[in-house]
Amino acid sequence: MTDVITAGLVPDERISPAFRDVLLSRCAEGEFGLVADLTEIDRRYAAGAAAAQRNEIRLLCAVKASTHPEVLAGAARAGLGFDVANAFEVTAARKASPSAFTSLTSPGLPFAERAELFEAFRRGEIDRWHCDSLAQLEELARECPGSTVGVRVNLDGLEIPEGMPLWRPSRFGIRLDQLALARDIAARYSCSLRWIHAHNGSEENDLASYVFTASAIADAAASCGLSLESVDLGGGLLSEVADLDPFLAAVRAAVPAGVEVVLEPGRFWMTDCMALVTQVLDVKETPTQVVLLLDFGLMSHLQWADHIRIPVLGTLIPGDTRPWRICGRSCFEEDWLDEWEPVPVREGAPIPRAGDAFVLGNITGYAIELACDFNGVHRPDAYFLRT
Ligand SMILES: Cc1ncc(COP(=O)(O)O)c(C=O)c1O
Repeated sequence: MTDVITAGLVPDERISPAFRDVLLSRCAEGEFGLVADLTEIDRRYAAGAAAAQRNEIRLLCAVKASTHPEVLAGAARAGLGFDVANAFEVTAARKASPSAFTSLTSPGLPFAERAELFEAFRRGEIDRWHCDSLAQLEELARECPGSTVGVRVNLDGLEIPEGMPLWRPSRFGIRLDQLALARDIAARYSCSLRWIHAHNGSEENDLASYVFTASAIADAAASCGLSLESVDLGGGLLSEVADLDPFLAAVRAAVPAGVEVVLEPGRFWMTDCMALVTQVLDVKETPTQVVLLLDFGLMSHLQWADHIRIPVLGTLIPGDTRPWRICGRSCFEEDWLDEWEPVPVREGAPIPRAGDAFVLGNITGYAIELACDFNGVHRPDAYFLRT
């Protein structure tokens, strides 16, 4: 085992000692691939579900972030429901639990999937349904007359406080000033518009943006006389588990009592539960940077895996101020780990050499969902184990 692995693995406070041992032993054995700790995932589910219960919030697991059966089964065991976007995701959620709460929010459904999903909604197997447009709402209401129905909204056209991270304009949902129109469309089919959903992208959120969105929805719904049952604020939850209570309490307080508040994070659930064990292929110097070439491809292996934990590296020669940069082995010029994930460097820390094993921590489930074999950089094997 090289000193790079032992000294520079993944920050200690971020992974359990047992998971660290697993990763170290895989490095030593040269067993490369994605390694996920189901024990740690279950701990996060349990902690999240408990915080949600304390703060009277319904937490879902966004199936798009990982369709791995064990990941979904763990969510169901913890009492979480599922956010789904289409028939494939409904099936994945149903396999994990035939009875878990299921909320559908889709940009648009293929025609071939609609009849079956409408039927599942009529039978109550899909608990909530948020339409992305007025036309979709009309179709749902026509197919399921007399139902409670929902829409997705965006905050386009609203005055947003300076600097608040809110994604606009959005191609999803309807504007809040179209809610009265949506209410009337639903009413034409004896449906009642009572569920509102908003998802502010995945990397753009802070507590203030959730609270602002929740209040804007509550105000707009009140002003057109909607009797809200739920406000779903989507995913993109970036809070640490330890900070969940004050976070959830503040979001809860932004919505009137009696209206359910829902969050449906995806990547949050596997934070620090999966790592990529890979290998150094080359270390290359340029006048301005030191390039660490690893046996991966960003597009093949690490899509939507931002906030990666990177081992601390030493300076190549004492006093060297050139930054280390990590790249993959595809022929794509931009196959770099992104700028907001600079390689941490400390004088005296280990220096990687070709052939060393190398671990990147905090890989998201999306890295598997979006994996491809572009440029012959094959997607890595994935191992889901318990520690
Ligand atoms: C509607 C909706 N909900 C939830 C999520 C999950 O987001 P995240 O994984 O950032 O928490 C997404 C992600 O794109 C989404 O589109």
